[in-house]
Amino acid sequence: MDKITFDFKNRTAIVTGGAQGFGFDIAKRFLKSGAKVIIWDNDPKAIESAIKKINNSNLSSNVVDVSNYEEVEKNVKEIVKNSNIDILINNAGITGPTATLWEYDIEMWKKVVEINLMGTFNCCRSIVPNMIKNNYGRIVNVASVAGKDGNANASAYSVGKAGAIGLTKSLGKELADKNIAVNAVTPAGAKTRILDQMTKEHVQRMLSKVPRGRFLEVEEFTSLICWLSSEENTFSTAAVFDISGGRSTY
Ligand SMILES: NC(=O)c1ccc[n+]([C@@H]2O[C@H](COP(=O)([O-])OP(=O)(O)OC[C@H]3O[C@@H](n4cnc5c(N)ncnc54)[C@H](O)[C@@H]3O)[C@@H](O)[C@H]2O)c1
Repeated sequence: MDKITFDFKNRTAIVTGGAQGFGFDIAKRFLKSGAKVIIWDNDPKAIESAIKKINNSNLSSNVVDVSNYEEVEKNVKEIVKNSNIDILINNAGITGPTATLWEYDIEMWKKVVEINLMGTFNCCRSIVPNMIKNNYGRIVNVASVAGKDGNANASAYSVGKAGAIGLTKSLGKELADKNIAVNAVTPAGAKTRILDQMTKEHVQRMLSKVPRGRFLEVEEFTSLICWLSSEENTFSTAAVFDISGGRSTY
């Protein structure tokens, strides 16, 4: 099936966690649609390989740990010297271990929330002023069905993603009088590297809850991200867009 082309000419997008999985595919499609893309990822080797694979002069990258506000802010300051930031996809995330809350390693619990929730906060906190100055912005926060349902044995991940949903609703309202849209998406399981962090049983349990009876394809996810990030999205903000194959009931 031919994909609709979005017009991202003269737009600059930051895709966090863009070196692999969902983010990598989003970066590719943004570039194809005319955007300049900056990948932020904390894995230098994965970035190197992504840049080689994509091989496009409109693609650049920074090694950034989104959970570190100073690092985020330093990179934003450099970028805005030469360019606006029109689109921000807060996609970087980890699942952390599969464990009950009472057996969860405390430092890992904090780390999972630091990346999934504080990472999203840090990037929004640092980039939104540039969007306000230009009266233009499209932000998409990649949450998860886990943030709506609360997955057993994934409390830190579920909390981080639920927090990202709450953040989206607050920030979207704060910016609603400007041409800036802030939305969240809640995918169900897709076969990316992130599934390796979970046990086989946990992945099977996730899949068994999806009425479509299959995993989400990465390209299907990118299609939704593209519309939400486009100029065509003039009204939807502070909202949560489901892409869970029928799993979510709200
Ligand atoms: N794949 C799924 O089944 C699924 C389902 C629901 C939600 N999600 C969410 O989608 C997003 C992307 O996941 P994916 O499946 O593509 O996983 P992935 O592991 O393939 O990609 C995640 C990327 O984020 C990067 N990253 C991790 N921590 C980071 C940090 N602190 N700073 C910067 N970059 C960091 C990783 O290096 C990696 O390149 C995540 O937020 C994830 O929680 C994934």
